[in-house]
Order: sequence, then C-alpha cells, then structure tokens
Amino acid sequence: MTDLQSRLHDIIAPVIAFDNEVEITDGKGSWVTAADGKQYLDFACGIAVTNLGHRPDHVVAAAEAQLNKLWHAGGAFLYEPIVTAAEKIVSVTPDSIEKVLFMNSGAEAVEASVKLARKTSGRQGIMAFRGGFHGRTMGSVSYTTSKAKYRQGYHPLVPSTFITPFPHPFGWGMSQEEANAYALRELEFKFTYEVTPGEVAAFLVEPMQGEGGYYPGSREFVHALRVIADEHGILLIMDEVQSGFGRTGDWFTSQVYDVQPDILVMGKAIANGLPLSAVGASAAILDAWPLGSHGTTFGGNPVSCAAAGAVVDDLRSVVPGVNALSEHAFGRWNELKDEHPTIGDVRGLGLMIGIELVKESNIPDPNAFAAISSHAFEAGMFILNCGPDGNIIRFIPPLNVSIEDLDRGIDILAAGIAAYEG
Ligand SMILES: Cc1ncc(COP(=O)(O)O)c(C=O)c1O
Repeated sequence: MTDLQSRLHDIIAPVIAFDNEVEITDGKGSWVTAADGKQYLDFACGIAVTNLGHRPDHVVAAAEAQLNKLWHAGGAFLYEPIVTAAEKIVSVTPDSIEKVLFMNSGAEAVEASVKLARKTSGRQGIMAFRGGFHGRTMGSVSYTTSKAKYRQGYHPLVPSTFITPFPHPFGWGMSQEEANAYALRELEFKFTYEVTPGEVAAFLVEPMQGEGGYYPGSREFVHALRVIADEHGILLIMDEVQSGFGRTGDWFTSQVYDVQPDILVMGKAIANGLPLSAVGASAAILDAWPLGSHGTTFGGNPVSCAAAGAVVDDLRSVVPGVNALSEHAFGRWNELKDEHPTIGDVRGLGLMIGIELVKESNIPDPNAFAAISSHAFEAGMFILNCGPDGNIIRFIPPLNVSIEDLDRGIDILAAGIAAYEG
C-alpha cells in the first residue's frame, strides 16, 4: 500500500470506494497519467462525464477566464455565463425544451424535476422504471431500482412512487418487441391495480437505461410512453444525465428516438467534469413553477456555466462524428461476440455500448468482468461495469477518441476476454 492509499483509508469514509486506488496526477484527452508515470487509456470517463476527454483546451480556457473574474454568486446578483450556458444548451436540446434551471448534480436535478412535475400538475404519483438509476439522495434513490443494495437500509422511501418494468430483452430472453409488449402490459396493470393514471404526475424514465444495464429503451417503447402520457395528462420526464450530450449519437437520446420530453434532466457531461446539472422544460411548465418554490446556493456556478457553454461549442463538431465511431465499435464488438462465448450480448446506442458477459445459458458472469477489468488495468486501461450483477462492460470512450485509441481499447478488452476463456 502506498503512503497516499494508507492516508486515504485513515481519513475518507469507505462508503464511497475508488474502483482503482492507483494515484492519477494528470489527464489529457483519452489518457491519464499515474504518479509512477504509467499511462492509462481512460474509458471510464469519470462515469460518462468527460465526453470531450480530459482538459479540452477551449473548455479549460473558458473556465480559467471565468475563474479569474468571478467564481460564485449564489443567486445574489446576475452574471453572464449562466444566461449564455442556458442559451447554448437550449439550442441543442429537443424542441420541447425552451428554458432551463441549473443545479449541481444529477440526483439534485432529478429531485428538482419531480418537484416541478408535482407542483405544476397538482398530482403526487411518480411512475419510475425498473432498472433505472436516478441518484443516491433520499428522493432520487426512491426512484432508483438498478440494484436493491442502493435502497437497502434506507426505507421508508418517498411515498407514491411506483415502479414498472423497463424492457430488458436479453435479461428476459425475449425479442425487443416481446419485451416492449410485456413492459407496456405491466404498465397497464399498474393503472388497473395500483394507481389511477389521473394521480400520476410523471413518468420518470431513462430512454437509454444506464447503470441498470445499458438497455436502449427502443424507439417503439419510448414513443408508446409519450402516447400514454399524453392520453392521461402525465408529464414525461426523461433522465438523460448519463445518455446526454452526444453520448448516444445525437445530442440527446430523445432526438435519436424523435420523442419530445416534457422535462429533460441533464448532468454529467454538461460541463465535462465541473459540477453542474440542469432541468429543462417548456416555458409554460417552468413559468408555472412559483417563484421561491425551489432554490440552490451553488447551482449554475459561474465557472461551471462558462465551461458548459464551451462544451456545447466543442461538441458541435464532435457529435456528428459519433455515429461513425459507433458503427466501427459495434462492428468490432459483434465480431468478437461471434468468437467468444463469454460475450452474451452487445447493445447500446452511439458510444454508450454494453457488453454483457455470461456463462453458459446466458447466466451473468461478474467474475469475467473482474478478470477482464484487472487485465485491462495491467495493460493500461480503465473501464467500469454496470447492471445489477456487475457483469456488463460499459464501453464509453470519450466521444472525440481517436480511431487508434478506440481500437487499442477494444484490443485490450478482447485480449482480456481471450485470457479469461483460457
Ligand atoms: C441516469 C442518471 N441519473 C442520475 C444520476 C445521478 O447523478 P449524480 O451522481 O450526479 O447525482 C446518474 C448518475 O450516474 C445517472 O446515470
């Protein structure tokens, strides 16, 4: 154990662990450098945050300039970066999103979106989807069902929360169509047996499910939710904290599927690593939220907002290239799937790709992930897992990764899979 690791264990609460306790001192682009000089390809991206890689020049310059002018206002007075960031973000969100509210974290923005839906609809029920991840705060964990462990020991959770299945075709051994039909039937049963639709303020859904297993919702399912929401006056909240800002091949998955959310929750990549999140909605919805019904000290921090504006500028030339990189990555992963029985499924959108590792009969194999990620670490690469069993590789390189580094990452993981299979 290094001196820093031993100081870590003495002083930092162990409830939040580091996947790797290697000390990283520097990051640039797709790479980070350890204290001992070893370089690692960072395909963890700080949990899908550094969509532009580490320290993109233009974003650093924007944040640095703001840091040297004004770095906190706390709502006491106005500053330009908050308005510019909002204008730039709204220029790339779906047409239904006309205004935004800034918060700090994804969980906080999810909670704000639920408060907004409840306050403006006068209804209390929230219908969330099994496998969804919406954060760890008391409210957001009430809607989070990607792992029972996240909720264990924290009950009672926020009441009037209902959880209905989200299509998991591979996990259920079904086709996408069968899984959609099953999930929609269960949603109907919720309305028949548990809560009338008129009591439901909002559907809270990740159109591309992240933490719960990298399951794309499918165009048909997400469209069906839009239709059901409209039929019953239910607001459609899309949580795109993980899937936003180019990750799934367009600015937001709602645009990939061509479905307009009523409320859009954004975070993670919004400022490429500086703390910021946002809730977007129509002017009609956000203007109906009474003054003072919600608030924040740090939300919309000037430095984070300056970075967020520069992130949108930079992503304008990056997002159009995501689908070509995605096609290349899917091509290679599907070939590897044909060669390796450990790869049960390859799924996703854009550069948000899940590689599900299995034993015979498609049983989740978390040992495979442990072996492959430690092989990757030795070879100089960071990856994360997802899914309740921790057996799915999250393949989330920076969106501006070079084709050489993309291939290098796949080569390292392929070698790890081959070594695991012996
Ligand atoms: C879809 C989604 N929503 C909300 C959150 C919570 O974000 P934060 O960790 O910033 O609170 C996450 C984090 O992983 C997420 O993936």
